[in-house]
Amino acid sequence: MASKLALRMGSPLGLKKSLRKEGANGFRSPTVSMASTIGSSTNETRVASQKKPFSPPREVHLQVTHSMPPQKIEIFKSLEKWAHENLLTLLKPVEMCWQPQDFLPTNSSEGFFDEVKELQERVKEIPDDYFVCLVGDMITEEALPTYQTMINTLDGVLDETGASPTPWAIWTRAWTAEENRHGDLLNKYLYLSGRVDMKQIEKTIQYLIGSGMDPRTENNPYLGYIYTSFQERATFISHGNTARHAKEHGDLTLAKICGIIASDEKRHETAYTKIIEKLFEIDPDGAVLAFADMMKKKITMPAHLMYDGRDDNLYDHYSSVAQRLGVYTAKDYADILEFLVDRWKVGELTSLSGEGRKAQDYVCTLVPRIRKLEERAQARAKQRPAVRFSWIYDKEVQL
Ligand SMILES: [Fe+2]
Ligand SMILES: [Fe+2]
Repeated sequence: MASKLALRMGSPLGLKKSLRKEGANGFRSPTVSMASTIGSSTNETRVASQKKPFSPPREVHLQVTHSMPPQKIEIFKSLEKWAHENLLTLLKPVEMCWQPQDFLPTNSSEGFFDEVKELQERVKEIPDDYFVCLVGDMITEEALPTYQTMINTLDGVLDETGASPTPWAIWTRAWTAEENRHGDLLNKYLYLSGRVDMKQIEKTIQYLIGSGMDPRTENNPYLGYIYTSFQERATFISHGNTARHAKEHGDLTLAKICGIIASDEKRHETAYTKIIEKLFEIDPDGAVLAFADMMKKKITMPAHLMYDGRDDNLYDHYSSVAQRLGVYTAKDYADILEFLVDRWKVGELTSLSGEGRKAQDYVCTLVPRIRKLEERAQARAKQRPAVRFSWIYDKEVQL
C-alpha cells in the first residue's frame, strides 16, 4: 500500500521547541517548529479541527530551514547561463501550448448543450473508483499555489521580486503557468461530467491550499529539485495511467486529456532531472548527500494534507484507491527511485568523500529493499473496507 510504505508522513510531533538538526550536505541548520494539531482519537482530531477552521488537523514535521551552506548559492549564480540554455529551452511558447478549451465544449456555440450531453454519455459507464482517483489527481493539481510557494522558498533560485529576470525565476513562473492548465482542464471536465460533488471538491481544494505541504526541502535547492524530479515523474505515471483507464472505459476525450497532461509532466521531469544531473557533475558529494537525505525522509506526496471537512484520513483513502486501481502504487515509488538512480548514474560516481560513499551506497541499495518490503506488505494485505467519499456524493468505494 503506497501510502503506508512510502508516502506517509513521519512521526507525530507536537513539540514547540527549537532544535538543531544535521541537514543535507552535512550542514547544521536552525529549525523552526510547527505545532501539530493531530489527536490520537477521532474526538481529539475533531476538536482540533474545530479550533482551526482554516486548516485540517494534520501532522507536519519540525521545520528545518536553510540547510544549504550559503556559499553554495554561488553555484546557482554560476549556472545561470547554463539554465538559460538548458532549462528555458524546455518551456513551450504559449502560442504553441494546448489550452483547456481545446478539449472542452465551446460555450458560445449552438451545439454546446449537445456536446455536454455527449460528454455526460461518455462518462456514464466509468466506475466511481476511477472518479475518486481523477478527483484526487485534479485536487493535487489545483493546489498549485502551494507548489509555486514551495519552489520560491529555495535559496539561490527563488523569485525575489515576483518578476525576477533570473532564469531560475523565469522557469518557475513559466512552469507554474504551464501547470495551471492541468487543474483547470480536469476541473472543468469533472464539472461538466455531472458525476462528482463539486462543492465538496472545491472545499477540499480550499482546505488543501490553506494547509500547504511539508516536503522537508529545507529551503535547499538540492533537496527541492530532487523532490520536483520525483514528483514530476510520479504525476507523469499517474496521469498516464488515468489516460489508459479512461480509454478502457471508452472515454477517448478524457484519455486524450490525461495523456496530454502526462506529456507536460514528462517535459517538466526532464527539466528538473537535468538540474540535478548538473549538480551531480559539479558537486557530486552535495548531490548524493541530498538524494540520500530526501529518500531517507521519504518523498511525501504534494496533497498529503488533503481534507474535505469530513474524512480525517482522506489522503490515505484516496491513495489506497489509487494503489488498488494501479493509478499510482508502491511499485511506482520504487520504479521512480530506480529510474532516478540510473538517470543520475549514482552507482558510477567516484571520488566521493566517506559520507558521500555512504550516501551512494544507501541510495543504490534502497530499491531492492523497498521492493522486498512491498512484497511482504502485499503478502500480508487483507481485503480492505469500503469507504464513503464525499467527492462522489458519499457513495462507497472499496479501498
Ligand atoms: Fe501537473
Ligand atoms: Fe507537474
